[in-house]
Amino acid sequence: MAALQRVKKAVIPAAGLGTRFLPATKAIPKEMLPIVDIPTIQLVIDEAVRAGITDVVIINGRGKHAIEDHFDHAYELERTLRDRGNSELADAMQRVSTMVRLISVRQKAPLGLGHAVLCAREAIGDEPFAVLLGDDLVDNDPDPGIGQLARVHAETGAGAVMIMEVPPGKEHMYGIVAGDLDAATGRMRIRDMVEKPKAGTAPSRWAIVGRYVLPPTIWGHLADTKPGAGGEIQLTDALHQLVGSAAGLYGVVVQGVRHDAGDKLGYLRANLAYALKRPELRAAVLELCRELVAAES
Ligand code: UTP
Repeated sequence: MAALQRVKKAVIPAAGLGTRFLPATKAIPKEMLPIVDIPTIQLVIDEAVRAGITDVVIINGRGKHAIEDHFDHAYELERTLRDRGNSELADAMQRVSTMVRLISVRQKAPLGLGHAVLCAREAIGDEPFAVLLGDDLVDNDPDPGIGQLARVHAETGAGAVMIMEVPPGKEHMYGIVAGDLDAATGRMRIRDMVEKPKAGTAPSRWAIVGRYVLPPTIWGHLADTKPGAGGEIQLTDALHQLVGSAAGLYGVVVQGVRHDAGDKLGYLRANLAYALKRPELRAAVLELCRELVAAES
């Protein structure tokens, strides 16, 4: 087999309607909502960069300028901060604008996650690539979640998706996979999958979440995918075709703490968890939590 290419490019779909966070997401994408003081998407891009990714394609919908502007140079802001003697903050702003090479592609209508990824076809080209959902956080130092999937792809040539065991009764909210999990490696060669199974029909409780490394053969599968559940072009349907192809697909239990920041409770949890990691905030946040709990009892 020819040497497999390293994963250097990533797609971050950020064109969903974000209805669960309205009105906050009326004018900005939910991926720009902050975790403490950093937009969720910046944390996601930081994970990608730490895994060696150099080029990121953002799929934008409404409010796209907020994301583009965030990763652009803010010359006047940096100048003003320096004039005021705050060069540390100015340097931090400069770092944000040089983190990664960014390409922005418009998804003209929110036709589903599969359609959003397909919008990046031209920008990515004929090479393996990563997909990171911009409202999903995987907190793991020093081995970023997407890097763990890239290693599985490098070893096998197959696609690799992050899987997580979800609580009983929640299977209908996810793409659920079937296969035998090798407990020693945390890998499952996926045999089958179903998007949002009806109650009592799920083949397992292993759900696909937020991180993917895909071979370029996925483009043909995506292009062939017809609208499925909810009238949307589902990424899971294209992944299903990958399972049956020569490339194949692995589910990987990724090391790290995952936060679903696209859900209200998950978002609040992520904010608390990231605040508790900050030495300057930790004691005060714990005290605040105690105070709030005491006030409730
Ligand atoms: P979600 O279903 O979580 O996003 O899609 P949503 O539709 O924006 O959220 P709600 O349910 O209305 O609150 C997962 C990811 O796929 C992107 C979203 O931006 C999110 O990051 N997405 C989804 C697109 O880019 N385009 C789409 O057509 C659909």
